[in-house]
Amino acid sequence: MPQSTDTHSTAAPDLFTPLRLGAIELPNRVVMAPMTRSRAGEGNCPTALTAEYYAQRASAGLIITEATQVCDTAQGYPNTPGIHTDAQTLAWRAVADAVHDAGGRIVTQLWHVGRISHPRFQPNGAAPVAPSAIAAKGQLYTGAGMEPFPVPRALETAEIPGLVRHFADAAKRAVFDAGLDGVEIHAANGYLIDQFLRDSTNTRTDRYGGTVENRCRFLLEILEATAHAVGADRIGVRLSPTGVFNDMKDSDPLPHFLAITKALNPFNIAYLHVIEGRPGHHMAPPEGAPHVASALRAAFKGPFILNGGYSRGDADAALAKGEADAVSFGEAFISNPDLPVRFRADAPLAEPDRTTYYGGDAKGYTDYPALESVAA
Ligand SMILES: Cc1cc2nc3c(=O)[nH]c(=O)nc-3n(C[C@H](O)[C@H](O)[C@H](O)COP(=O)(O)O)c2cc1C
Repeated sequence: MPQSTDTHSTAAPDLFTPLRLGAIELPNRVVMAPMTRSRAGEGNCPTALTAEYYAQRASAGLIITEATQVCDTAQGYPNTPGIHTDAQTLAWRAVADAVHDAGGRIVTQLWHVGRISHPRFQPNGAAPVAPSAIAAKGQLYTGAGMEPFPVPRALETAEIPGLVRHFADAAKRAVFDAGLDGVEIHAANGYLIDQFLRDSTNTRTDRYGGTVENRCRFLLEILEATAHAVGADRIGVRLSPTGVFNDMKDSDPLPHFLAITKALNPFNIAYLHVIEGRPGHHMAPPEGAPHVASALRAAFKGPFILNGGYSRGDADAALAKGEADAVSFGEAFISNPDLPVRFRADAPLAEPDRTTYYGGDAKGYTDYPALESVAA
């Protein structure tokens, strides 16, 4: 088992036991999962509403922001924020300040969508880039309706160091210029890094493809560069080993992701965040696929965050059994800005309105009340 990261008590932890993730001290283990809300403003900058939304959720042990572009080829959906221009960085500074003023902690999730994009989102209408020229099955929303995923352009080997630098530059902007507490590297859910990790989307024959060691080289190079830029104790990594979202699969996720997880250990990152849906959850491993989270937990030497359809009771049980050090909650945080307060008070949870998840304004974003205003 990994060493206990609970520095405050010897009793089995629950959701309200403090926890240290690298350089970040959490007052509780109720983590807000990253969620794209497609409400960025002009120039893909977070807005005053974004700052209000995250500040409302400052009672989370840690807020992980929506996925945020590291460069201008990284976007695949309308109105998602970036952190590669000065204006975007300044706008994130306002978000970080608002969360810190409200007593919270916030890291930003850094992503590049890879093939999950469209020429409409790319500079000069170019094809999106990916490890291999394999299109995802299905369609994406481009702002002009639903359109089929295009065939991406396979990256040249010589282009990869440039992408690695974009992640490191974005991490520097996040921590030193915007004042965020750290970054989470988005290596999950079928986006660029996950496309490198899994063998259904990576058929490269250079040093970034073939063996699992080669497939995780891109992620490890990103970790090395971002750790050099901001310190490994401010970096988390998110993985979804059995996720099928964005037409993903892998021929043998258990040994592959075990090898990837072991390769993370020498970096001493702040945490590993794994999505493996609870039974019946839409992110649960597909029928017949192995469950891998417990094996990754055992293999990873640092703090471990689990996600995927957890209730308060499931989460406390997982912590008590040592299956995780913290649990992240997605949809519950959309409609319950004060989720930890409600958990502690055993108060009922508000149901989120799915029609307002992506895009729009304050409705379904900042207008969910906190408990005291519900009770008042
Ligand atoms: C509206 C919405 C947007 C999401 N956007 C992201 C994202 O930007 N990055 C990411 O890693 N996961 C994203 N997810 C997945 C969530 O982080 C989480 O894994 C999922 O909701 C399962 O957790 P839950 O059952 O507690 O909601 C999103 C989920 C939702 C509902």
